[in-house]
Amino acid sequence: MFDIKKIRADFPILKQQIHGQPLAYLDNAATTQKPQCVIDAISHYYQHDNANVHRGVHALSERATADYEGARKRIAGFFNARATENVIFTRGTTEAINLIATSWGGANIKAGDEVLITHMEHHSNIVPWQMLCERIGAVLKVAPINNAGELIMESFEALLSERTKLVGVVHMSNALGTINPVEQIIQKAHAVGARVLVDGAQAAAHLAVDVQAMDCDFYVTSAHKMYGPTGIGVLIGKTDILDAMPPYQGGGDMIRMVSFEKTEYNDLPYKFEAGTPHIAGAIGFGKAIEYIEGIGFEAIGQREQGLLAYATAKAEAFDGLRQIGTARHKACVLSFVLDSVHPHDLGTIVDREGVAIRAGHHCAMPVMQFFKVAATARASFSIYNTEAEVDVLFTALKKAQDIFA
Ligand code: ALA
Repeated sequence: MFDIKKIRADFPILKQQIHGQPLAYLDNAATTQKPQCVIDAISHYYQHDNANVHRGVHALSERATADYEGARKRIAGFFNARATENVIFTRGTTEAINLIATSWGGANIKAGDEVLITHMEHHSNIVPWQMLCERIGAVLKVAPINNAGELIMESFEALLSERTKLVGVVHMSNALGTINPVEQIIQKAHAVGARVLVDGAQAAAHLAVDVQAMDCDFYVTSAHKMYGPTGIGVLIGKTDILDAMPPYQGGGDMIRMVSFEKTEYNDLPYKFEAGTPHIAGAIGFGKAIEYIEGIGFEAIGQREQGLLAYATAKAEAFDGLRQIGTARHKACVLSFVLDSVHPHDLGTIVDREGVAIRAGHHCAMPVMQFFKVAATARASFSIYNTEAEVDVLFTALKKAQDIFA
């Protein structure tokens, strides 16, 4: 059974006070807090096993390598990747998408080809494609959304053609909370011969992801939104596609043999992991996955959907509050604007009450442009949040409204 007291006790940071009030951390879409087991795993590595991986014959290097590769194996299992070689460590979602755009995109997208994304993408799934299209003379197409912040499937389908080489779609929108019908999108895209990249930065901590069942060509995500450390994430790709892709960066570990005349590249996944990797990060990521598995997505989903429903009901009853993102299928993000208070002022005022939310464009400026707002305030929930914290948020919002009245 889900024991909220026990879960909260796993996260040492939550025990503190901010401006004399108990911390209510509601900025989980920006980054989640880290449980003690993740902090301990990272610390243990540096205290006992620190060495470089894949290089040494000594005991520490063997331990570091085993832990690093063990993390990869756990991550592969968690996402049901076909094999560990399909899991490439990156600095995070952003680097993973840049890797795909540069390596796969550079090799497979030609002048006149089209890349199709959606209007709700994060900048990290817009800008790398813009850069590629500009360099190559390809065309970036954008599938529209409706007023609820849902993808308009008919328009998406109408934009697909044999010119579409790649579809990039966010699994769960960070700015709206919308969960996209990725399986359906992938089927439609594959029918015209396009490859599909799913940006799972927000989704992976909240929804069970099975990359084989989904049949995506690339799935990317970041550890730090899944109770793991920053600076580490994964790109999970299909073997034949990854095999055919040129390396992204050159350096140590990504080679089998180097001479001045010619270099032979290493096998997957190492071909894409040039240089000393973020070993402690990978180990922390593996531990975070173990932590999520220990709770299970059924309990996580129930808890987070309950909190979202509770917060949404409060938002609907709150005078002068407009929700941004009311998709039928959404998860644990409450984005909103108040009539009388700028989101940045709201963020500052609720912080005085110990409540951490994000205010801004959430790295999704086109979403703000669509809803004709400069910014929104965003509360985003996680497994350790409580109804009481939601109450504190709404009391603080009322206070802000009164100040600006
Ligand atoms: N993309 C992160 C967010 O939504 C940083 O806040």
